[in-house]
Order: sequence, then C-alpha cells, then structure tokens
Amino acid sequence: MTPVDAATRTPLTEQEPLPTGKTMGSSRCELSRVIWRSNENMFGSGKGTLVLELVDDVAWASAARHSDGHAVTVSVEDMTFFAPVWAGDIVTAYAQVEGTGRTSMEIGVHVSARRCHGPSEPEPVAEAHLVFVAVDDDGAPRPVRPVHPETDAEYARHRAVAIRRAHRRALASALAEVALPTPR
Ligand SMILES: CC(C)(COP(=O)(O)OP(=O)(O)OC[C@H]1O[C@@H](n2cnc3c(N)ncnc32)[C@H](O)[C@@H]1OP(=O)(O)O)[C@@H](O)C(=O)NCCC(=O)NCCS
Repeated sequence: MTPVDAATRTPLTEQEPLPTGKTMGSSRCELSRVIWRSNENMFGSGKGTLVLELVDDVAWASAARHSDGHAVTVSVEDMTFFAPVWAGDIVTAYAQVEGTGRTSMEIGVHVSARRCHGPSEPEPVAEAHLVFVAVDDDGAPRPVRPVHPETDAEYARHRAVAIRRAHRRALASALAEVALPTPR
C-alpha cells in the first residue's frame, strides 16, 4: 500500500519534494576593484563608501546565487573597518550566505586589500554582516532554501548568525520601550 501523509491524506509519492538545502560554499562570491586617486577623501585614503558599495554588491551576488534569483538588501547589520584603503590598492570582498530564514539570508563579507606598495600578502581591511531578502518579480519576499554549513569554520559562522539574530530581537524589544520619534 502507498504510504499517505497523515495531515493531508495525499500519497507521499505525489507530494512536493521537501526543499533541499544548499551548501554555504556554493554561495561564495568574490568581487574586486582598484582604488584610484580620484577615489581619495580629503585625508588621502580611499572613501569608505567605495568599500561599502563593494560589500553590498558582493553580498547581493552571494544572495542571488543562493536564492537562484533577485534579492534586496534589507539591513546592513554592521560594518567594521580595520585599516584604510589607499590609491593603488586592489580591494577584494568575499561573501557567503551564513544563515537563512524563510525568505531572508544573512550574508557575511570579508574585505582585504592587496597593497600597491607594501607586503605581497593581502591585508584584512573590513568585515560586514548584511541581511538580504529574496524577492519575486513583484518585489514580494519568496522562500529560500536552507543553507548548510560543512566545515568547522562554517558551523561557527552559522552559530554566530543565531547569536546576531538573538541580539537583534533583544535590541528591538529594548528600543520598543523608548518613544522614538518617527524619522522625517
Ligand atoms: C525587504 C522587503 C521586501 C521585506 O518586505 P516585508 O513586507 O517587510 O516582508 P516581511 O515582514 O515578510 O519580512 C521578510 C523577511 O525580512 C526579514 N526582515 C525584515 N526586516 C528586517 C530587518 N530590519 N532586519 C533583518 N531582517 C529583516 C524578516 O525577518 C523576514 O525574514 P524571514 O522570512 O526569513 O523570516 C521590503 O521591506 C522591501 O522591499 N524593502 C526595501 C528593500 C530595498 O529596496 N533595498 C535596497 C535599498 S537601496
């Protein structure tokens, strides 16, 4: 006898297959750009917004790769600069999906700079965490497949996503007690 689903009574063979996950590694993307003199700020280093744009772009590529379609930035959770970038640097951003919700993806991005005049090894310059939401043609959220870590480092990043989510919830509930004015 064909087994049936207890809730829907439909034969299990006729049901939609369960959504299978994708590996964290399969979402990995990298993107590079050169910093030019025209990109300097008034203090002589590269503008931080250049790095932010690179981070958002590579995070989008990773989210789109994982979700097999378009995705939008919903939040830049944090971004930390460890060192400045300078004219002549080749700056590379590496992104991967480190956690998934129903429609959202948490993207981790690491940025390093290969200096024009300096050590041959790239130097870490920034790190960021962003949340993207997969959207359909009408801009409405659409479900994503769960991401699966495989290595110890990926499991650690996956656990860090859970910690950041818990912090986000705690922050939202703490701020809800403050009568914040509506932004203009
Ligand atoms: C992203 C967007 C489609 C979400 O629409 P929405 O009606 O708020 O959808 P939902 O409330 O169902 O939230 C969708 C997901 O986003 C997550 N989300 C919403 N706001 C969030 C925030 N501030 N931080 C983190 N995640 C957030 C929700 O938790 C949910 O995740 P889940 O499905 O994995 O549980 C909508 O807010 C939007 O279009 N924003 C503008 C995005 C954009 O244009 N970005 C580029 C700016 S230039």
